[in-house]
Amino acid sequence: MTLLGPSTRREMLMKLGIAFNTIVGAILAVPIVKYIMSPVIGGEKSGYDSWLSLGDVTQFPAGETRLAVYRNPVVNPWDGDTADLPCWVRNVDGQNFQVFHINCAHLGCPVRWFPQSKLFMCPCHGGAYYEDGSRASGPPERGLFAYDHKIETGQLFIKTGQIPAPGIASSDASSDGEEKPPCA
Ligand code: FES
Repeated sequence: MTLLGPSTRREMLMKLGIAFNTIVGAILAVPIVKYIMSPVIGGEKSGYDSWLSLGDVTQFPAGETRLAVYRNPVVNPWDGDTADLPCWVRNVDGQNFQVFHINCAHLGCPVRWFPQSKLFMCPCHGGAYYEDGSRASGPPERGLFAYDHKIETGQLFIKTGQIPAPGIASSDASSDGEEKPPCA
């Protein structure tokens, strides 16, 4: 049996260390490079901007606002229940619908619907919205964000995968049909 001298052993350990660091670096670099290059090579994730059914329109009686939940189509396997996204569906008159993001337009807390007062209320800073999603009071500078929606074969569909941001027009389906300014 041949024993390695101290300098040979040091060289071997050095090479092993370099090889190990190279492998770890390569493993870490893949997602980082993919993230940085995603605007160029990645395009949009599948499911982005897709139409998703919230179910049969009969689930949403005329004149009522109800909570619906859909599965985010832009999802990772490890997202679990966090990919189940709630939204508020308002059946205006049996013909026209509005579908609102659940998040307050101020800092994103989930708003709740109070049928007695016909207001959406935010628990965080007291923001309030009328039933058509327009701003009623409090810190929000605009109304609730709304999904594009359509009805096909008796199903209510919403366009998903978009992150709401100030400047995106609020609902275009208000009960009076009037176009509202961005901060309405
Ligand atoms: S997050 Fe809703 S009022 Fe601030």
